[in-house]
Amino acid sequence: MLETLYGGVQNRRVTIRDLQRATDTHERWAMLTAYDYSTARVFDEAGVPVLLVGDSAANVIYGYDTTLPVTVDELLPLVRGVVRGTKRAMVVADMPFGSYQSSPAQALETAARFMKEGGAQAVKLEGGHRVLPQVEALVNAGVPVMAHLGLTPQSVNAFGGYRVQGRGEEAAHRLVQDAKAMQQAGAFAMVLEVVPSELAREVSAQLHIPTIGIGAGPDCDAQVLVWQDMAGLSPRTAKFVKRYADVAGVLGQAARSFGQEVVAGQFPAPEHAYH
Ligand code: KIV
Repeated sequence: MLETLYGGVQNRRVTIRDLQRATDTHERWAMLTAYDYSTARVFDEAGVPVLLVGDSAANVIYGYDTTLPVTVDELLPLVRGVVRGTKRAMVVADMPFGSYQSSPAQALETAARFMKEGGAQAVKLEGGHRVLPQVEALVNAGVPVMAHLGLTPQSVNAFGGYRVQGRGEEAAHRLVQDAKAMQQAGAFAMVLEVVPSELAREVSAQLHIPTIGIGAGPDCDAQVLVWQDMAGLSPRTAKFVKRYADVAGVLGQAARSFGQEVVAGQFPAPEHAYH
């Protein structure tokens, strides 16, 4: 039997209905971040059904310390590149800090830019009850919204650092209420970042929309990682990251070999030259 996401859906983009169908049939799936045409192509061909142009671009593309400084104008070209590099993956654009918190109208304006100018199929925003009006406005306008709860990096200053969220009865209760409110408002999926595994399991059991874990244990419907962390390009990673490759090692070695061959006059060889 063909699975909905890994195996099925080959000749068109993955939709929110496909993701819901996969969740209904207990088929797990993966989401990766992507920020450019070339890696998006690789991930699309690898069958990853959802690519997130995360505001983590602030860190891994632009070199900022936090996600707070990155702007819509900085993310838009990345979204365009990822959309051009993919045929099948759903592309989700992350709404950066300051681009949706002011009002539902501001959220709609930002989402419209990511969809009209960037070509994204969905947007993601961080927060629970406080962004409920924004989620409702987007959903009413036909914009698929991915919610994001737990360690929401745009609130790092309010949290006092990058720490596990939802610990303790009261915080866990608040997170469950936020999750239910987001689903009720029409979010099609929800990222749960750095929360206790037991809490992520409870939220996943209580929601019918897919939960996408990152540092949230094994019981979410899907999992996401920042690709540079997953592939070994980031110098430091959190405990929840698994490194599936050593891209920094491979790239570094390729750059060293290229440099050495140029210095030694070994590159270009006759087969690389035109006559
Ligand atoms: O910006 C990002 O990469 C994210 C994921 C970690 C979920 O929000």
